[in-house]
Amino acid sequence: MKAKMTLAKEFIIDKIDNRIYGSFIEHLGRAVYGGIYEPGHPSADEDGFRTDVIELVKELNVPIVRYPGGNFVSGYRWEDGVGPVEKRPKRLDLAWGTTEPNTFGTNEFMKWCQKADTDCMMAVNLGTRGPEEARNLVEYTNHKGNSYWSDLRKSHGFEEPWGIKLWCLGNEMDGAWQMGAKTATDYGRIALEASKVMKWTDDSIETVLCGSSSRNSMTFGEWEATSLGIAYDSVDYVSLHQYYGNHSDDPMSYLASTVELDDFIHTVICVCDFIKGKKKTKKVMNLSFDEWNVWYHSYNAPFDRWSIAPSLLEDIYNFEDALLVGSMMITLLRHCDRIKIACLAQLVNVIAPIFTETGGGIFKQTIFYPFEHMSNYGRGAALIPILTCDKYDCAAYTDVPYLEAIATYDEEKEEMAVFCVNKSMDDSAVMEINLLDFEGFTPFEHISMDGYDRKDENSIKNPFVKPHANPVPEADGKIVTVEMKPFSWNVIRLRK
Ligand code: AHR
Repeated sequence: MKAKMTLAKEFIIDKIDNRIYGSFIEHLGRAVYGGIYEPGHPSADEDGFRTDVIELVKELNVPIVRYPGGNFVSGYRWEDGVGPVEKRPKRLDLAWGTTEPNTFGTNEFMKWCQKADTDCMMAVNLGTRGPEEARNLVEYTNHKGNSYWSDLRKSHGFEEPWGIKLWCLGNEMDGAWQMGAKTATDYGRIALEASKVMKWTDDSIETVLCGSSSRNSMTFGEWEATSLGIAYDSVDYVSLHQYYGNHSDDPMSYLASTVELDDFIHTVICVCDFIKGKKKTKKVMNLSFDEWNVWYHSYNAPFDRWSIAPSLLEDIYNFEDALLVGSMMITLLRHCDRIKIACLAQLVNVIAPIFTETGGGIFKQTIFYPFEHMSNYGRGAALIPILTCDKYDCAAYTDVPYLEAIATYDEEKEEMAVFCVNKSMDDSAVMEINLLDFEGFTPFEHISMDGYDRKDENSIKNPFVKPHANPVPEADGKIVTVEMKPFSWNVIRLRK
C-alpha cells in the first residue's frame, strides 16, 4: 500500500497540553496496595512506595495522575485517609465490594506524586457527599494555615499546602452503578455549587464536570447539555470516559474503534459549543478525557468479596491491544485543540501498562510502549496530518483508513515525530512524508512494534513483546520514505 503525508509549520492543530499524557490511580484492586504502595517489598522506600514502579512511571513521563477514583470516590470519606495511620478506620468499599484499609490516603498520594515527578488531579465525592466535604478537602490540601482544615493538615505533619490545581467534580454520576448517581439536573446543580465553594476556597484551581460515563450511556448528549447548561460558567472542563474491547474477536473492527472515538469527541465538542452559543459567552469549554483504555480481558474474574486489595480488573494486554491504544492516543492528539487533559486508565495493575506481582517483580505490558513513545516524543504542537492512504470496510464500519497517524513538532528541541499504526494485517505501507517548510529536518530514528501474533502478550517471565529499531528511513530533500510493516506501531523521529 502506498500512502502520503504532508506536513507544514502552519498546519497546526494546537500546542499540546502535556496533561494529555496523564494517567489514573484508583483505590481499586492492587493499584494502590501491592501496586504503588507496598511496605516491606524489597524495592520499597522509607514511605513504602515501590521504587521499581516509580521508575517505570517516570519512563512513561506522566505529568498528572487522577486520584482516588473512579467509582471508589463516590463513597469515599477523605478524612478516613489522613492523620495517624493506627487511628484510620477500615471501611467497606461498595463500589468494588472490597475492604479499604485507609493506610494510604491523600498525603501519602501527594508524597508519591512528588517522588514520581507528577501532579495530582484530585476527585471529590459528589455521590454520597457534597460541596461541604469537597471544599473542606480543598482547604485541607491547599490553604496555607490558620483555619480548621489547614491546621489539621499541619498537625498531621504537612506544614506546606500541596497546592492541587485540578479537581474532578465526582465520577460518572450518570451511571446506575455509582453510589449517589444523579439525574443531569441534580448533578448540574451539585457540581455548580461544589465548584463555586471549592473555587471560593482557592481561586487558583480548575474543575472538571462529569460528562457521560461513556458514549453508550442512555443519556449521552442530553446529560452534557443539561449539566453544562447549569454549571458552564463555574467549570473549566467536561469529562469523557471510554473503554474498548475486542469482544467478537474481529481485529479489523476492533482497530476501527477509533472511528467511533473520533465521533464521540466531536459530539461532545458540539454539545459544549451549543451551550456556549446558547449562553452567548466567549468562554470555550475544553475536554478532559480522564478515563480511556482497552478493558475487557478481566471482565467477571472471581475474587473474595470484602478482601483487601484483591486482584481486580487485571487485564493482560496483547499485541493488538497495543495497536489500539496507540490509535486511541493518536485520535486524542488529533483533537488537542480541545482535549487538554487525558488519563490512561489506569497506571498500575488495574487495566494498566505496568504490572507488578505483590511481593515480586514487575513488567511492562504491551500497551506500555505506544504510550511511552507518544508521551516522551509527542510534545510541542500537533500537526494536521494531511494523509492519503487506502481504506477498508469491516463489520462495524466502512471506509476506515488503514493508517492512523499524527505528527508533532517540538520547536524548542527542534524535533519532530510521526506516529502511525498500520492496521492492515497483510500489507506493508510505504509512506512518503513531504516536509514542505520543515527545512533541514531529517529522520534519525524509526522505532516499531511488529511481527508479533496479535494475541501475543507479555508476562513477568517473558516480556518479549517490545519495540525495536529499524534502519533510518531514506530522505531525498524534503521527501522521507518510510516502510511500515503490516499490523505495526511506528515512530519516526526527525531533527535538524
Ligand atoms: O477505571 C475503572 C472504572 O471504570 C472506574 O472506577 C470508573 O470510573 C469506570 O467505570
